[in-house]
Amino acid sequence: MAQKFYVTTPIYYVNDVPHIGHAYTTLACDVISRYKRSRGFDVYFLTGTDEHGQKVEAAANANGETPLELADRVVKRYQALWDKLNISHNDFIRTTQERHKRAVTEQFLKLQAKGDIYLGEYEDWYCTPCETFWTETQLLDSTCPDCGRPTTKLKEESYFFRMSQYQDQLLQHIEENPDFIQPKSRRNEILSFIKEGLRDLSISRTSFSWGIPAPGNEKHVIYVWFDALTNYISALGYPDDKDGLYEKFWPVNAHVIGKDILRFHAVYWPTFLMAAGLPLPKKVFAHGWWTVEGQKMSKSLRNVVEPNMLIDKYGVDAIRYFLLREVPFGLDGDFSHSSLISRINSDLANDLGNLLSRSTAMLGKYFAGIVPAAGQADEIDLAFIELFELAPAKIDKLYDNLSFNKVLQTIWELISAGNKYIDQTAPWTLAKDPQQQDRLGRVLYNLLEGQRLIALQIAPFMPQTAEQILGHLGVDPQSNLIDNDSWGALSAGSKIEKASPLFPRIEAE
Ligand code: ME8
Repeated sequence: MAQKFYVTTPIYYVNDVPHIGHAYTTLACDVISRYKRSRGFDVYFLTGTDEHGQKVEAAANANGETPLELADRVVKRYQALWDKLNISHNDFIRTTQERHKRAVTEQFLKLQAKGDIYLGEYEDWYCTPCETFWTETQLLDSTCPDCGRPTTKLKEESYFFRMSQYQDQLLQHIEENPDFIQPKSRRNEILSFIKEGLRDLSISRTSFSWGIPAPGNEKHVIYVWFDALTNYISALGYPDDKDGLYEKFWPVNAHVIGKDILRFHAVYWPTFLMAAGLPLPKKVFAHGWWTVEGQKMSKSLRNVVEPNMLIDKYGVDAIRYFLLREVPFGLDGDFSHSSLISRINSDLANDLGNLLSRSTAMLGKYFAGIVPAAGQADEIDLAFIELFELAPAKIDKLYDNLSFNKVLQTIWELISAGNKYIDQTAPWTLAKDPQQQDRLGRVLYNLLEGQRLIALQIAPFMPQTAEQILGHLGVDPQSNLIDNDSWGALSAGSKIEKASPLFPRIEAE
């Protein structure tokens, strides 16, 4: 039976339209999903939208529409962007869907029946943008310690979740599972947060109404994070599990999130699951944040990078490549037009594009476009081929740590090796000597076969480009890594046309 792989993005709030940060997380999940599928895994890739809570209610009020009208409108923006970005998710969950509301209600009742949810009262400070409570001592100059914005004092009757009960069990889990929270620096932050002591968590509100009602006490709505986190199992059909997806895919292999929401995923969510007696996620990976031309992205600075515009201008694969190549996953990074353009020109137009156009042009010139037989390899060839034989195992390991930029670096080492191989073997010199016809054939075969393997490896990042390259090479564009990643599958005798440039160079404005 095929191995299984379940990966999730955060579900995005609908009070705002998608920007480059949202696209980044979703893209990372898409790449790992495509890679795992190409390796024969049975993949479930979930994304969606977080539609309840005070923040969404306030945004709808400000627009003079109902929260659901707002959600319906913004969801379309997300879905259209994921189409345009070639995102291959299996499911898109909205927290206003019945399947989700039912699961949240059930989960609430289950924890309540166990005594892990109880009714009490709190008096605390609330940060609406973060949808988070803070104690007086946690505030920094009366503002939210996370985002620095003003907080308001709230005194309300509330349901509480006995998070404090799970502190030791959670610590033990994190200590025994070094890969549970990644990267390591973030794991240390969470460990110190827990060691400061977990308080019981307020998980309902009475001051607004846009949410899932607490069962049996409808003046309360369930806290938006208790609601939202449950999406990861409600989408699988929990608790009824009619289609067997929960049974098949839970626990999740990786929750991919931004560093801003790690505490919710590495503290709250695992304790909810422990209380419900459910297995914990295998991995929570928090990536870094993008700034734009050195500044925090914000509406007030009017510097929010809008992915649609970038895709229209530079093409979808260039954007997919750039976002995962430029910054190590897990670290913060800066988006600038100049670095985007220089990556497109040097990595895509020069390295990748030239390799294909040079080799297909030579094939046309010296062999009328017909792939020659592989023939006997000499020392230079063997060294070249070895690189391609060693790369897949190395790349596979890098994917396990979501080291996307290193995967790309490794693929680009192959591309550079291809360009260097042309310079070393100098086919134009071989072509002048009829005695060297076989040698010339072998060189061109190796170049084209190398590019077939390169195309298969870049496919998760740049699906259209990979298809284009495979198409030029006369290879089935649907071929995957599981059956086709060993050297020598390109067949001699097929006809190849000279490739048009994959990525035209961009002149900086
Ligand atoms: O937090 N750089 O939703 P959200 C990189 N609904 N990534 C960024 C980013 C940036 N500048 N800005 C946003 C929520 N992101 C909750 C999640 S999950 C059960 C509920 C990405 O719409 C990053 O992944 O505020 C971050 O975690 C997510 O968008 C936050 O999206």
